[in-house]
Amino acid sequence: MLFELGLIVALTTAVASETVHGVVAFTRHGDRTTRMFPGYHLTHLGAQQAYNSGQFYRQRYVADNASFPIAGMAPDKVNSRQVWASAPNQGLLLQTATNFLQGLYPPLSQLDEAMATEALTNGSSYTGPLDSYQFILIQGQPATSQDTIWIKGDDNCPFHIASQKSYLKTPEYQTVFNETLKFYQRFVPLLSDILGDDGVSYENAYEVFDLMNVASIHNESIAGKIESSDLDQLRYLADMWEYNTNFNASEPARMIGAKTLIGGILRQMNTTVASGGRSNKFQLFSGSYDTFISFFGLTDLTSVSPDFHGLPDYASTIAFELFTEDGDRDSPANFPSADAVNETLQVRFLFRNGTDGAAELGAFPLFGGADLALPYGQFRERMESIGITSVGQWCNTCGSSQDFCVAANETYSGLRGASTSGSSSSGLSNAAAGAIGAAVTLGVITIVGATIYMLHRSRRKTQTSAGRSTSSEKRSDSDSV
Ligand SMILES: *[C@@H]1O[C@H](CO)[C@@H](O)[C@H](O)[C@H]1NC(C)=O
Ligand SMILES: *[C@@H]1O[C@H](CO)[C@@H](O)[C@H](O)[C@H]1NC(C)=O
Ligand SMILES: *[C@@H]1O[C@H](CO)[C@@H](O)[C@H](O)[C@H]1NC(C)=O
Ligand SMILES: *[C@@H]1O[C@H](CO)[C@@H](O)[C@H](O)[C@H]1NC(C)=O
Ligand SMILES: *[C@@H]1O[C@H](CO)[C@@H](O)[C@H](O)[C@H]1NC(C)=O
Ligand SMILES: *[C@@H]1O[C@H](CO)[C@@H](O)[C@H](O)[C@H]1NC(C)=O
Ligand SMILES: *[C@@H]1O[C@H](CO)[C@@H](O)[C@H](O)[C@H]1NC(C)=O
Ligand SMILES: *[C@@H]1O[C@H](CO)[C@@H](O)[C@H](O)[C@H]1NC(C)=O
Ligand SMILES: *[C@@H]1O[C@H](CO)[C@@H](O)[C@H](O)[C@H]1NC(C)=O
Repeated sequence: MLFELGLIVALTTAVASETVHGVVAFTRHGDRTTRMFPGYHLTHLGAQQAYNSGQFYRQRYVADNASFPIAGMAPDKVNSRQVWASAPNQGLLLQTATNFLQGLYPPLSQLDEAMATEALTNGSSYTGPLDSYQFILIQGQPATSQDTIWIKGDDNCPFHIASQKSYLKTPEYQTVFNETLKFYQRFVPLLSDILGDDGVSYENAYEVFDLMNVASIHNESIAGKIESSDLDQLRYLADMWEYNTNFNASEPARMIGAKTLIGGILRQMNTTVASGGRSNKFQLFSGSYDTFISFFGLTDLTSVSPDFHGLPDYASTIAFELFTEDGDRDSPANFPSADAVNETLQVRFLFRNGTDGAAELGAFPLFGGADLALPYGQFRERMESIGITSVGQWCNTCGSSQDFCVAANETYSGLRGASTSGSSSSGLSNAAAGAIGAAVTLGVITIVGATIYMLHRSRRKTQTSAGRSTSSEKRSDSDSV
């Protein structure tokens, strides 16, 4: 905690002579109903969280009096060229992005009545519906679109599922499973209808936590029966399950979600850079907690703070700031020229856990280093060395038979010769292995984490066929949200 405060202080004092040129953010959805039941959706609370998060970013980067204004960003009336957003075609994630953007650019009548009004030649004038609600296009990605991999690269990825499944076979998993069996028994009376008597165990660590957590927030008849220490323990076990099923330094497919998110972030940053800072100044992805935790492992944030082994709270965000050292809010620096951009443009990583008033957007060093910012060229190189930047790479790492992989595979094998191995995680392995070590010794209970997803998935599919849900395909698409 002290360390984090230190980082934040360093950040606020360093900033006097900086100009921010762009931001790429990734958000988790807000509070929702449990994903164990069909038709799950964002609650009003969840919508407010995403909206508040958007307002937070507005106050930091967009508004007239923003604390870290993005140079040239329209403060009130959105300029569609400056904002880009994308989410998988899932109500929960699209709505989260929508609510966030509503906070980023509130209805125009609330900001500037004159700007919100359009006059016609015949003397009549109009404001838009809903107080001149500001429409911002969100690129929705269907599961069959190749661009869905940049947000949810773990979906429809067979080798990812196989890698998660292999975790079930590890002694680590068995030990945790055995040692927590008794603890989980106390939730059987509440959950056996949903998970079955045998299902209330570490095998379903996330589902058990999710059901209990959602009930503790929304179901009055159950909330009183949940001890907060039990909920913490369930959260800890869910954290462990998710960390272990989404990160393993030796298995690229296990961390595929983070690898492609890295590719997506680089692609979007490149659009800002390629436009000389004129387009795509604020960019948003809306995605899932498992991608966050995979990213925390892959970029070695877990070595900065063990807290990064934990799932982020609802509507948490990570953000990458593109900035230059010179200039300030009154005289912002120009965007660096193409041949200077690698050295002059800087990238800073930030994380905000949840949306509580107290939640700070703090800077943390990536890649096991100490620097809170890296020059763009160096940042790119580090990210490219651990990320996935082409569709063909994803298809190969996943063993995917998606339609879009037919052509992508050919291009990719052409580029790589005969090799079909997955992407390399060079440079990270030792540090990442250390992170696993830390994960393993961390904790409320002295056991080692392990997991499987496959069983867990097939269990869900079984339940699905028993009539609890619509289509198992749909369900697995919207699995980890
Ligand atoms: C900026 O202005 C808004 C609206 O007038 C106000 O609510 C907010 O507190 C101000 N922020 C800062 C950092 O001064
Ligand atoms: C002005 O034009 C608009 C669009 O054609 C029409 O709906 C509106 O009734 C007109 N106003 C007047 C005062 O004629
Ligand atoms: C990580 O991957 C290695 C290599 O495949 C495997 O031996 C190990 O059991 C895995 N660890 C976990 C915790 O899944
Ligand atoms: C877990 O329990 C099972 C069944 O009692 C036992 O066969 C297995 O050896 C145990 N595994 C570990 C790692 O304790
Ligand atoms: C609250 O939990 C009880 C017991 O599981 C269940 O019967 C009821 O439907 C739940 N209520 C809501 C609003 O989810
Ligand atoms: C960046 O964008 C430019 C212009 O669109 C493109 O030519 C280039 O290939 C892109 N580079 C990367 C690394 O994505
Ligand atoms: C975020 O908050 C959750 C729950 O409060 C916690 O478990 C996790 O460790 C936190 N993550 C970080 C990086 O602080
Ligand atoms: C910038 O760095 C990238 C590698 O990250 C490299 O591919 C590119 O050629 C460099 N551009 C210049 C102008 O040096
Ligand atoms: C793409 O390549 C991977 C790995 O070589 C393979 O498993 C997969 O089936 C291929 N997909 C298609 C559609 O050809």
